[in-house]
Amino acid sequence: MIGIFDSGSGGLTILAALRKQMPEQDFLYLGDHANAPYGHRSNQQIVDLTRRGVDTLMKKGCRLVILACNTAAAVALRTLQQNWLEDAYPGNRILGVLVPMVEALTGVPWSQKHPLAGDLPRKNIMLFATRKTVESGAYAEEVQKRAPHLHLLTKPCPGLVDAIEGGAGEQPLSGLVTGYVNEACTSIPDAVVLGCTHFPLVRHLFEAALPANTVIMSQPDIVAASLKDYLIRRSRYAEGPAKPEASPFGRVCLLTTGNPAEISALSALLPENLGNFTSV
Ligand code: DGL
Repeated sequence: MIGIFDSGSGGLTILAALRKQMPEQDFLYLGDHANAPYGHRSNQQIVDLTRRGVDTLMKKGCRLVILACNTAAAVALRTLQQNWLEDAYPGNRILGVLVPMVEALTGVPWSQKHPLAGDLPRKNIMLFATRKTVESGAYAEEVQKRAPHLHLLTKPCPGLVDAIEGGAGEQPLSGLVTGYVNEACTSIPDAVVLGCTHFPLVRHLFEAALPANTVIMSQPDIVAASLKDYLIRRSRYAEGPAKPEASPFGRVCLLTTGNPAEISALSALLPENLGNFTSV
């Protein structure tokens, strides 16, 4: 059973892609809706809340937890891996959504820290993310190390996660997205990265606001392909309690720290119905 953690409902976009690529797998999702959004919180709060979420999932039997939240991955992942996990849950793993994205963007494996060789043409990449993810500098630093020809421009989108979590309609969401795109894209970027797992829920609005044919890199499929590959050699991390009966399909359980009825209505935004939330 694989644990998926997000500050709210954005991680459902990752879960939906994981389900598509690994239908036989069991998933336990936890959205910390009571404390979302994380994008305005202090680093220490994000570390504490993320640790609490991962702890809950590991207590319930997940040996591997994916931080399906860029903000948590950018701010808390390394701290938890280095200072907490090995003592609390020896042998367990926490992975984030930032690593697969950087690998996809640069074409360089995470383990390679030196820059690509050769005189490569400069490319402008536009990153839309939460303020906290942008301020962490994590994307810029990791991309720069591997692919200095990629020039990462960043655009924080304060308010967009709140609006999505709050169930805002198409019009206000479109207004917000168009505003961010118009402020950020004074020239046409070579590619756009949606660096927040909530943003694929409004991908159509980014598509409408960006110049036609802009390449948009969105995390769900990239993260799912990367995790599938990771588990080929490490399937032990996905093991869980035996299923009651042999079934080709895995189970999905959605937990929230917030109000399950309100939160369940939000997941209707997704193309695939993943079920209803229950209280953690
Ligand atoms: N989905 C989270 C992310 O990817 C949103 C963070 C927040 O709660 O602000 O960054």
